Amino acid sequence: TILILDFGSQYSHLITRRVREIGVYCEMLPCTQKIAELSFKPTGIILSGSPYSVYDKDAPHVDPAVWELGLPILGICYGLQEMAWTMGGKVAPCAHREYGHATVHPVALPASSPTHLGKLLAGMGTDLTMWMSHGDQLSELPKEFTALATTATSPYSAIGHLKKPIYGLQFHPEVTHSKNGTQILKNFVLDVCGASANWSMSSFIDKEIARIREMVGPTAQVVGAVSGGVDSTVAAVIMSKAIGDRFHAILVDNGVMRLNECKNVYERLRNKLGINLTLADASATFLGKLAGVSEPEKKRKIIGNTFIDVFEAEAERIDKETALKGQAKIEYLLQGTLYPDVIESISFKGPSATIKTHHNVGGLKEDMKLKVIEPLRELFKDEVRALGKLMGLDDELVWRHPFPGPGLAIRILGEVTPDKVRIVQQADDIYISEIRKAGLYRQISQAYAALLPFNSVGVMGDQRTYEKTICLRAVETTDFMTADWFQFPYDVLKRISNRIINEVRGVNRVMYDVSSKPPATIELE
Ligand code: XMP
Repeated sequence: TILILDFGSQYSHLITRRVREIGVYCEMLPCTQKIAELSFKPTGIILSGSPYSVYDKDAPHVDPAVWELGLPILGICYGLQEMAWTMGGKVAPCAHREYGHATVHPVALPASSPTHLGKLLAGMGTDLTMWMSHGDQLSELPKEFTALATTATSPYSAIGHLKKPIYGLQFHPEVTHSKNGTQILKNFVLDVCGASANWSMSSFIDKEIARIREMVGPTAQVVGAVSGGVDSTVAAVIMSKAIGDRFHAILVDNGVMRLNECKNVYERLRNKLGINLTLADASATFLGKLAGVSEPEKKRKIIGNTFIDVFEAEAERIDKETALKGQAKIEYLLQGTLYPDVIESISFKGPSATIKTHHNVGGLKEDMKLKVIEPLRELFKDEVRALGKLMGLDDELVWRHPFPGPGLAIRILGEVTPDKVRIVQQADDIYISEIRKAGLYRQISQAYAALLPFNSVGVMGDQRTYEKTICLRAVETTDFMTADWFQFPYDVLKRISNRIINEVRGVNRVMYDVSSKPPATIELE
């Protein structure tokens, strides 16, 4: 395991990505991690970049024990400065701030140099295009260090310790703009650290199943909510492979799911994937509580709270029922938390203000006192997809667009009624099936139909109509933090609009949303 210590750079998680892509397992922890309290023995350490300057009053610093471990260390950007600052070098603001591409020239090392010095930039050529982003730079080398590379404005673009396998890079090898950056990381983790490239999805599954079995033990039971989305399904499949029917998945029908969604998810998870699944049909309860409520945040709250009530009641029912059969208690709760959420919460600065938190399952009541199991907590979204594929989930599931917890309730602007739910369900079903037919589903990151809160005049046959309006939304995005509206071919839009107006009773107008995020959001409420 490679340990990555995070000083809060926006690129830190990319280091994790690259190292795992090389096939080496790594974990990122906050830079304030005490070495004595580590739960594993690292084979090497990487120090990330940071928005701070080492001289800032509140600048973050590593546990000094890091330097005493005798392990290979690679400092990137701030990581280099932290290393140099600790070992008596000098860091100063650059006369020429380096931001963007820079050409880095590895230094030709004399033949008499210690062999470890040549390893980091081995096989790299003479002009490397690397991404820089720093306002400080090393102005004086610490004792016992030597320059390994230079740029036009910096004599110390890469440095190495003369006796120990300790290196620093002023540039960011982890970003894709750095050509051959991955080669440097590869040289470090494979050659310098001697880590083995044996991290793969299938080894992950085996390791995770073993970990779960050991944690849960031979009798305890586990409960978890599934939605039919890729994360909760993959988590449920792993769980059920680990402990079979001692895992109880619960699918809550909240009455605001898409057309036939519950039936399809139930079929797929229970019959195809063999998950021990219970469907809790609480649609009447949800719709009853939503009646007369039109304020978006209130709707979200009602759904969130009702969800917890229904889920807990169902879990208690299962607990009692299985107790009658002589089974042990439910002690654990499965959650589909992914790595980006974990990174957010472990950052030494605390959760960043700019990142939106969503209202998902998670806020179970105190008295439930279940211990949490998160089999996906080390994975990024695309790794979860790869894992799903490997475990035999079909493409349709693996590539499903995200669907918000509050469901169609936030896509029916204003009050939610059963008839409005029917309208959105039908319109959305036509919309998505036409997108699939046109072969555009994978290109679009998320698409949905919403119901606008007003009627407008139309004409059908010889009759004046005064009916509802459907708003179509489709966006392209990689992280859902920013998004662009999707440029549909007109003929596809035309077909969708015709079908919706002709086939969905109560709709006489269709509009397409051409707003990007920001300033709009992806959902309308
Ligand atoms: P916004 O509307 O904030 O949505 O641009 C960004 C992404 O988050 C989804 N979303 C939610 N997902 N619970 C969820 O699980 C929620 O309460 C929620 N609200 C928004 C939205 O569908 C989009 O993918």
